[in-house]
Amino acid sequence: MSIGFIDLFAGCGGLSTGLKMAGLEPVVAVESNAWAAETFARNHTETTVICSDVRETSGSVLASGFGGNVPLVVGGPPCQGFSAANRQSLGGEQNNLVREFVRLVLEVRPTAFLMEQVPMIINWGGGVFVEEIRSTFSEAGYDVSFDVLNACQFGVPQTRRRAFFTGISQGESMEFPRPTHYLPSELTKFQTVFAPGTCECSFLEKCVTVRDALSDLPDIQPRSRGVSPVSYECDPKSRFQALMRQGNGESVHNHVATVSSEKVTERYGHVPPGGNWRSIPKELLQHSKVRHSSLYYRLHPDRPSKTITNFRKSMFIAPFSDRQLSVREAARMQSYPDWFTWSEEVPISAQQQMVANSVPPMLGFHLGLALKKAVGDSR
Ligand SMILES: C[S@@+](CC[C@H](N)C(=O)[O-])C[C@H]1O[C@@H](n2cnc3c(N)ncnc32)[C@H](O)[C@@H]1O
Repeated sequence: MSIGFIDLFAGCGGLSTGLKMAGLEPVVAVESNAWAAETFARNHTETTVICSDVRETSGSVLASGFGGNVPLVVGGPPCQGFSAANRQSLGGEQNNLVREFVRLVLEVRPTAFLMEQVPMIINWGGGVFVEEIRSTFSEAGYDVSFDVLNACQFGVPQTRRRAFFTGISQGESMEFPRPTHYLPSELTKFQTVFAPGTCECSFLEKCVTVRDALSDLPDIQPRSRGVSPVSYECDPKSRFQALMRQGNGESVHNHVATVSSEKVTERYGHVPPGGNWRSIPKELLQHSKVRHSSLYYRLHPDRPSKTITNFRKSMFIAPFSDRQLSVREAARMQSYPDWFTWSEEVPISAQQQMVANSVPPMLGFHLGLALKKAVGDSR
């Protein structure tokens, strides 16, 4: 029997895409942003996409298409409320979207739930968030567990860390997926989240690099937008590329980038692979005072990428050319398959934000396999 689920705060559907690849079925998705809801519907035509504020929906409405039992509710409530300076509990106004996720799970009473959050949530407020989640759901009969997963250890060419909370009812618990890939020790020095060599062992595959992910895409000249759709540059050069191209035709969509000014393009030229704004001569950088390590970050071809945040605002630089990353390149870094497309009608800034917000589908796939087992066992 298929395991259907409800996706809350669904975005354009990164998590749903991965769960679906694992054999789960996105029955209902709720998303307030019209561009994201439209993109979700375009790529998952069988799903009922409700373009609305989660606060305005109820468990009974969401569960109505399930005929009784809802196997799974998933979601990634936005996390702006969580910062080092903000120590309110779950009841705090800023965090009320997490509270909404909790409300709907308690109304729907699914067999299992999965919630995505930023990893800083774990220690936020001295652990108050984790404690409230655990006690609220435990009282409702769920066995709650959480873990922080790094996407690069699951075949995604990106060192993105995210916290996941799960709860399974009826006395079962979920085993989080085990890594399938390792970061070689020569690369761990570029990552604060790995101790040197700890992840290396013979039965895991080496992590996927930017080159593995992008080298079959045609280049886009600096200061030009690119064309969509466009033919691939060559046959797949890596297993990752072959995987991304499965189910897609001969051409690739959304390989277009924001065009930067001449002045900004000159700055790009100073940044080496793996470097950032620090390599840009001071006289060229009369930019805002906010300078974080991802600003003007150029992807290094032989490493996984840093976390793909909003790559236009952060001015992520393409690995092989002095220009911004294209939407397709960022989508590849997130492991979105090439058949997943964004309408050309959607503003490129909205496409960029959707890609950055997503759970990498390949990570979702591994979580999906674990959930499938846990939900199947408890039925
Ligand atoms: C972190 S993203 C979710 C990404 C998604 N899980 C994925 O993998 O693609 C959070 C999403 O919640 C949406 N959102 C924010 N507030 C909302 C609300 N009140 N009701 C419904 N959706 C909301 C945002 O538009 C955004 O798309």
